[in-house]
Amino acid sequence: MNAPPPTPTGTARRGAHAAVRHDSAVGHVTGRAVYLDDMPLPPNALEAALVLSTHPHARLRGIDLSAALAVPGVVAAITAGDIPGRNDIGPILRNEPALADGLAEYAGHPVAAVAAETLEAAREGAARVVVDYEPLPTVLTVEEALEHKLYVAPPQVMTRGDPDAALAAAPIRLSGEVRCGGQDHFYLEGQIAIAIPGEDRDMQVYSSTQHPTEVQHGVAHLLGLPFNQVTVEVRRMGGAFGGKESQATIIAGIAAVLAAKSGRPVKLRLARDDDMLATGKRHPFLIRYDAGIDAKGRILALDMTLAADAGNIADLTPPVVTRALCHVDNCYWLPHVRVTGLACKTHKVSNTAFRGFGGPQGMLAIEALVDDVARHLRLPADTVRARNFYGIERDNVTPYGMAVEDNIIARVTGELARAVDLPGWRAAVDAFNATSPVVRKGLATVPVKFGISFNLPTLNQAGALVHVYTDGSVHLNHGGTEMGQGLFVKVAQVVAEAFSIDVSMIRISATSTGKVPNTSATAASSGSDLNGMAALNAAETIRGRMAEVMAERFAVPVGEIVFDDGRVFARNESLAFGELAQLCWSRRVSLSSTGFYRTPKIHWDAATCTGRPFFYFTYGAAAAEVAIDTLTGELRVLRAELLQDCGASLNPAIDLGQIEGAFVQGIGWLTSEELWWDPSGALRTHGPSTYKIPGSRDVPPVFNARLLADAPNREATVFRSKAVGEPPLMLALSVWLAIRDAVASVGPVGAKVDLDAPATPTRVLAAVERVRGR
Ligand code: MTE
Ligand code: HPA
Ligand code: MOS
Repeated sequence: MNAPPPTPTGTARRGAHAAVRHDSAVGHVTGRAVYLDDMPLPPNALEAALVLSTHPHARLRGIDLSAALAVPGVVAAITAGDIPGRNDIGPILRNEPALADGLAEYAGHPVAAVAAETLEAAREGAARVVVDYEPLPTVLTVEEALEHKLYVAPPQVMTRGDPDAALAAAPIRLSGEVRCGGQDHFYLEGQIAIAIPGEDRDMQVYSSTQHPTEVQHGVAHLLGLPFNQVTVEVRRMGGAFGGKESQATIIAGIAAVLAAKSGRPVKLRLARDDDMLATGKRHPFLIRYDAGIDAKGRILALDMTLAADAGNIADLTPPVVTRALCHVDNCYWLPHVRVTGLACKTHKVSNTAFRGFGGPQGMLAIEALVDDVARHLRLPADTVRARNFYGIERDNVTPYGMAVEDNIIARVTGELARAVDLPGWRAAVDAFNATSPVVRKGLATVPVKFGISFNLPTLNQAGALVHVYTDGSVHLNHGGTEMGQGLFVKVAQVVAEAFSIDVSMIRISATSTGKVPNTSATAASSGSDLNGMAALNAAETIRGRMAEVMAERFAVPVGEIVFDDGRVFARNESLAFGELAQLCWSRRVSLSSTGFYRTPKIHWDAATCTGRPFFYFTYGAAAAEVAIDTLTGELRVLRAELLQDCGASLNPAIDLGQIEGAFVQGIGWLTSEELWWDPSGALRTHGPSTYKIPGSRDVPPVFNARLLADAPNREATVFRSKAVGEPPLMLALSVWLAIRDAVASVGPVGAKVDLDAPATPTRVLAAVERVRGR
């Protein structure tokens, strides 16, 4: 019992910071990982389908379900009137119905649902529901909403200094307008839920959701039940990207109402087209700015309006707008600033969380301005950027009053520039353009600073539940959900580190509202920060008890007990971790504990838009090269070089995957993913044939992602790591800026480039024509 034996694999023990592969990696690629649609259903289960409004705005004079109920196999059909409790699943504001009640507010709005013995019968039934619409006037664009001052929530204004006076005094004034489009989440696994009625009206719900607690609450409200009668479980999602933060509740809620009505289990799985029509997306923004600058390109004053297309209801729009306002500064010191955020109401699907949560739109706004400033002054954009970077000792406070204490902007941008020889790269692009009149190249960089924490302080809490069994194996549960991002393996690594055992000793279990209650969504990139800390807290409690048993057994002070590499040491004596667990049991010491965590230091005043909403910032930088065809507007991303701060990464393999995936998803948002509504208000891009997400050949042929080395978080996060899920999406702004650079190369020096996002071939071609003065 002396020297610790080698670990089973003969390799080093794998805990925090190890590049462990995703726990389901093999399951994902072999198809053995179980998603909800793979789950065997009880024999009496029903399948369901939705009836979607065909009008963007209409009074529902009547809904006739009789033809649906006459279809063989149809068992139940419901409208809002069949909801036994309150028809409200609003995540923040009230009166956001699961099924339209008397009023349809977008084409695609669920107005009824049908459950049947087979999916075919359910869809047949749904097709036969007769809805009597009385069409009402529609508002389909942000411009119309602005004109009529139609908002789903009050305007938010963030001000610092005296922007009006500073604008008036500025030597140079620049104003502009830029738009960015929305984005469908296009998770591979569509929205899905299974609701199983139990005893005494209990409801067990399996939901593909980032937010089991919100599904629990939504189902309880709809069914008129206390929360303790609804249990929600999710093992994994086949992607979510924010699209299952609030939207999953609609699907689970309708499944539960059908299950309650029929008394049978119900599965509701949306077809891709219905999923795209019925559920919310990234918010498109219309951005207008008026800036005062000096001849060196320093931004002296900024007045900017960010108008989000909220769609028909608020959903998560208010915090999305808040996060947009909190990211307009990106890496830049803005001494006098006013940013106004508007949540415009339109008769379209209600937009929702999507990776970055308003941050990408806010950053696109300031980067468009920086780009305009650089061209106006004929300065390199990177020079303008560097002149506006936050300072270290001074000029270091954000417009919302938070000091940037962890500023590593210059380090990150400098390391990237050196790693890729930016001047040489620039020269090569210029040389190419000198002899290529039709195909033109562009090169651009972008720095990113992203705030980590939910921008509502209350949400920054998490719970965990850890059991150690008497063979030394560990059962791990926490409130976070797995959507492919690798949260489960990261939290398992944290627990492995706490006990100093190999991560293979930890069994990861499905998220359940019955195990860890009152959780927040797995969102805001903070899943591992929050749940990792909660699990660490639980594990440390158990480790403390185990250490006491060890100390007593070998009569050694507890402070001398060491957990190392699968064993526990008391001076010259040691026990295997499992042996000590067995000893604890025999001495009647609990081997189970909950854990809890609340993020320190954060606060926010929504009325004044000031505070310290973020525990810390994470940083990144990217450089991208593109080529455009100036005759067709087609484009290719030729090369992308990324550097991302992950603090002391919990798992560099997982983090690299997050960086690459987020960047490519960002390319999709900024170049090819165009949502198009026809003039009648119908979304016409509702499937992969009309909505173009990036494919494998859209990944840049030269693509290098790196983690910033030796950069532990200066705040006391879990093992000094940093969040990674969302921030690298914004690195893709480098691609959009590189396209603008390529467009600029065909015009006279200094000409303004007018290009919105997504930079589709149509838009690129139009921008080329404009810059040529045609
Ligand atoms: N990665 C994968 N593979 N699938 C996803 O759905 N969602 C992103 C990001 N990375 C997502 C993903 C979003 S929007 C967020 S907020 C974070 O993961 C959430 O997980 P985390 O907090 O554990 O990073
Ligand atoms: N991110 C994601 N979801 C949220 C946030 C956020 O910052 N705030 C409230 N819900
Ligand atoms: Mo991510 S948009 O916070 O789910």
